[in-house]
Amino acid sequence: MIYFDHAASSWPKPDAVIEKIASFLKENGANPGRGNHVMAREAANEISKTRQLLAELFHISNPNAISFYMNTTQALNQAIKGLLKKGDHVITSQLEHNSVRRPLEYLKRTEEIEITYLESSIDGTTSLDILKKSIKKNTKLIVISHASNVLGTLQPLYEIGKIAAEKNIFFLVDAAQTAGRYPIDVTEMNINLLAFPGHKALLGPQGVGGLYIQPNILLDPLVHGGTGSHSEDIDQPLSSPNRYESGTLNTVGIIGLGAGVEYIKKIGIDVLRKKEWELTNYLLSEMKKIDQITYFGPNENIERVPLVTFLVDDIDSVEIAAILDQHYQIAVRTGFHCSPLAHQVIKTEHTGAIRVSLGHTNTIEEVNYLITSLKEIIKHMG
Ligand SMILES: Cc1ncc(COP(=O)(O)O)c(C=O)c1O
Repeated sequence: MIYFDHAASSWPKPDAVIEKIASFLKENGANPGRGNHVMAREAANEISKTRQLLAELFHISNPNAISFYMNTTQALNQAIKGLLKKGDHVITSQLEHNSVRRPLEYLKRTEEIEITYLESSIDGTTSLDILKKSIKKNTKLIVISHASNVLGTLQPLYEIGKIAAEKNIFFLVDAAQTAGRYPIDVTEMNINLLAFPGHKALLGPQGVGGLYIQPNILLDPLVHGGTGSHSEDIDQPLSSPNRYESGTLNTVGIIGLGAGVEYIKKIGIDVLRKKEWELTNYLLSEMKKIDQITYFGPNENIERVPLVTFLVDDIDSVEIAAILDQHYQIAVRTGFHCSPLAHQVIKTEHTGAIRVSLGHTNTIEEVNYLITSLKEIIKHMG
């Protein structure tokens, strides 16, 4: 199978990730923070190592400001539901994933929060002027995804962070498509809350993600329960990460994520991104030569995250994806990619579209095979 669905989850994982997980399961497997014996302490140490590695990656001075969740969605829910109160106003964009939109819409119904969706241009850019003009007295939060999972467009985090900081508004970034791929500096970018997945470009297994919560922010925890500390207190502890990490953690996943970050550091985040970008730009240049294909997002040569969403004239996207899957053994993703408003921007809200998303393990031969396969499909069905 040729795997072009890295935006959903990266695969294959580095051997180092698989080996680290296997050796932990074989040699330890104890519950971190739930005992004082050697095995529990070792498990807790491994988790601390992952926190440390992630803190270095995102320029976070206190690793304990990172809490682990199951995925980006949970981390975003924690940030949004933990911060917003009745009557608050939030600015977000049309490009957001349902993991931002749905919790916001839920709070709109239940807590009467107000939402402004910034309109996006067809290539995925959002106007900073309109952002500034949308700020109101009760604006508490700006939540933006670093890169759209439909268009691939990167958003200017420095500039948005600056506007948020000047106006004393919290800035939450959804880094689902960029964590482990683009440098993120929470201090320089004035990011107060950063939600990220462990299972995409950070190369860890599924079932792990995280949230950076700036140490001066106290969120209402999404989940209450045992933290292995302050057990006699009736309330959640105040300190992070205990406040936010009730119940047994996905120790295996977190340890695997740590190995993923180590792998990225060893090879170099810039080296991996350059390879992905070159492949993506090559794919765009080849798609451009096929008259029946319309791709969305920034033009060729303008950097984007390694994904391309496209349509083929007169052929249903679902059918194309099914043929790619069953006849050519190529995995892509169709539909609305959990971002219905982004599909409105590119006018595919009724049809959906096909998304090809790449990783550094893909090759030019695989991209060529995809292009040849698409040409064959168009020839036979177009
Ligand atoms: C931009 C964006 N945000 C959030 C998510 C949700 O990520 P997760 O599957 O880790 O919950 C995704 C998933 O693809 C995404 O692309």
